[in-house]
Amino acid sequence: MPNDSWPARAAVDPVVTRLALEGLRAAPKTLPPQLFYDDEGCRLFYAITALPEYYLTRTEWALLQEVAPKAGEWLRPGGTLIEYGASHEAKASLLLGAETNGRPVFDAYVAIDVAATALRAMGARLRKSFPALRFTPIEADFEQPIVLPADLPTGPRLGFFPGSTIGNLDPQGARRFLARARTTLGADALFLLGADLRKSPQVLVPAYDDAAGVTAAFNRNLLVRLNREADAEFDPKSFDHRAVWNAQEGRIEMHLVSRRAQTVRLGSTRIAFAAGESIHTENSYKFTREDIAAMASASGWQMRETWTDSEDRFGLFLLGAS
Ligand code: AVI
Repeated sequence: MPNDSWPARAAVDPVVTRLALEGLRAAPKTLPPQLFYDDEGCRLFYAITALPEYYLTRTEWALLQEVAPKAGEWLRPGGTLIEYGASHEAKASLLLGAETNGRPVFDAYVAIDVAATALRAMGARLRKSFPALRFTPIEADFEQPIVLPADLPTGPRLGFFPGSTIGNLDPQGARRFLARARTTLGADALFLLGADLRKSPQVLVPAYDDAAGVTAAFNRNLLVRLNREADAEFDPKSFDHRAVWNAQEGRIEMHLVSRRAQTVRLGSTRIAFAAGESIHTENSYKFTREDIAAMASASGWQMRETWTDSEDRFGLFLLGAS
């Protein structure tokens, strides 16, 4: 159910306000996708991952179940798994369960995410499911430089970026991210990347515009968040959710389209919308294998191995030192 009431203005956040103003003053209007993930946005995103139209999560999950037990073939035991954008440990747990001669491949797990509540909940669950694991949460934006704790185990490192979150970065940002991860993780590290593959818009568009309207609620929740955290007065119901395939750029775009001409207050600023004017809220790039190989080599990595499902919907890519 979309949460589209106007909550009390108790928690105005200067960073959210600045990001919102920057995007909404631009032409065309935008909002940065990192604003999706407040508590309600995280809840809605998990609901999306279970939707019949959203094939990404279940396809990657099935692939990971095949691939994760092989981690001992690429890494000696005593390693550290470092996950970028880790708001739930489910996928990492498949890797954390990998063993070589009865010994876990990973002794430590570093989870990097902006969602503090999610990181805390992960810590509580991991203490039960992997009592011997050393868990280090880092509350940070993975697009910013990350400093790993100095006292991590000295064993091998595996960077992990599942879910095709790489597709939410623009191509330059994606290369910058991978190059930075290479520096952060060190010269001998490996990197396991999950990425959604190009396919027919008939499959792609419904994945971002589902029949139950969960993705629409996820998109509109941005406006609910701005009402609460940026002292705004959006009527979320006056914006339509739109998902479109941009063939030239190779990406699904999400938009919020104003149903009517309206002026919305945000703090002391008034933002005018024409009828049909859009706020561009997200890009989700879709890749060919060649795209991934080119992106990897442009950022100091080399493709070591590729796994895809039988319908070629999603790929797992193991990158190593070039
Ligand atoms: C997090 N990310 C990979 C999702 C995607 O598919 O781009 C976010 C999402 N947006 C709408 N549905 C899911």
